[in-house]
Amino acid sequence: MARQSFPEGFLWGAATSAQQIEGGRRAQGRGESIWDRFAAVSGKIEDGSNPDVACDHYRLWRDDIERMRWLGLGAYRFSISWPRIMPAGAGAINAAGLDFYDALVDGLLAEGIEPFPTLYHWDLPQALQDRGGWGARDTAEGFVEYAAAVSRRLGDRVKQWTTHNEPWCIATLGHEEGHHAPGHLDPAEALRAAHHLLLSHGWATAAIRREVSDAEVGIVLNYCPAYPASDSEADVDAARWFDGFFNRWYLDPVMRGAYPEDAVADRIVRGHLVSPDLPFEQDGDLAAIAAPVDFLGLNYYSRNIMQADAAGRPRDVKTVPAEDLTDMGWEVYPDGLHASLMRVHREYAPGKIYIAENGAAYTDPVDADGRIADQRRITYHQGHCLAARRAIADGVPLAGYFVWSLLDNFEWGFGFTKRFGLFGVDFDTQQRRPKDSAFWYRDVVAANAVDDTVTPSNQGESRALDR
Ligand code: FCB
Repeated sequence: MARQSFPEGFLWGAATSAQQIEGGRRAQGRGESIWDRFAAVSGKIEDGSNPDVACDHYRLWRDDIERMRWLGLGAYRFSISWPRIMPAGAGAINAAGLDFYDALVDGLLAEGIEPFPTLYHWDLPQALQDRGGWGARDTAEGFVEYAAAVSRRLGDRVKQWTTHNEPWCIATLGHEEGHHAPGHLDPAEALRAAHHLLLSHGWATAAIRREVSDAEVGIVLNYCPAYPASDSEADVDAARWFDGFFNRWYLDPVMRGAYPEDAVADRIVRGHLVSPDLPFEQDGDLAAIAAPVDFLGLNYYSRNIMQADAAGRPRDVKTVPAEDLTDMGWEVYPDGLHASLMRVHREYAPGKIYIAENGAAYTDPVDADGRIADQRRITYHQGHCLAARRAIADGVPLAGYFVWSLLDNFEWGFGFTKRFGLFGVDFDTQQRRPKDSAFWYRDVVAANAVDDTVTPSNQGESRALDR
């Protein structure tokens, strides 16, 4: 067994988001978010749960920082709750909301953990949804006001700023497929939402730079490589279609200042656009969207294998046995991470890349010794870290890796049924328990290296959090 070392200064982190962990639904003036509203609708959340309490991180954040210290994290990626800062969506600032993040940032810095906030991880103030949400251009303006207020307050200590997390999910899952808040089924609105998200990213980038002269600003996109199921022209085109729909619709405007022509044409064929002139685009928008970023964050979980069905419609097929899929039904495919990093590096050449999320949902029991033996999660992360290491050797400017997630949490429409955490959470008692993967990751962080063969973690001992 050999160890693959990472470059000195490589940033090891873990990620969470406000709506998924904080709880504190009505604490200290927080307003309603679209996810609070969505979760209250019967049938929207698989287990009938809601994020009102989640991991109760709003009260337990000091304990959670202690867990990060124990892991040895170099950075913590979290998100800021817009409805906590601006309960009515715009205008008045809720001082207690800013105070919360101010204290969190100080707590992180006291442990030498770099705060890596994301301004928008899906929890739009409901008040803004009532005025049109991301389908309305005004929401992009509201986002800039919010970004300026937060960066003004935290910017003396926070230097790494992310505007949005995964605009594809917001636009498509929220506005086209209805699986996420606000639960709409309107492809034309989804395209407007995507544009306003991208525009607000560009505008907010400038606003953050005005507030924080030494800020590094970026965006986090989800990236999923598409492999054709066969060499047939139809399958190859299905893969091209998915890549345009999912990856390039966001990468191209941000990195090149243009929407991908073939993907625009696909939308016309489907009747979502009437012509290549995007009705929601105004002069100067694409230049604003393409404001240079200091880093690009990529979230990688799996790949798609694309096939054209009998009617020629593209669909994702799984070709591996069910036991090789995670609880999300996603194939474990570390080579796809290497391929994705290489492609983004070669074709878009961002100056710096972070893997802003990578992780696996598996449910493993707490055994009689209080241990959670999650070897499958260790194997998943180990494989992906080794793929990331290969990409670095191949020239990709990869600067850090964030595990999704620090804690088991509220997994959107799946409620609490999908568990991604390094720490298991008992949602009745709020007890956190380090899984075997937490011990594994702690060793990786300490060594700045990953073993290149997978070792079974079941050495039989019960491991307690050694504080
Ligand atoms: C990503 C999200 C994150 C979590 C993981 C599993 O798409 O950014 O909040 O849901 O997937």
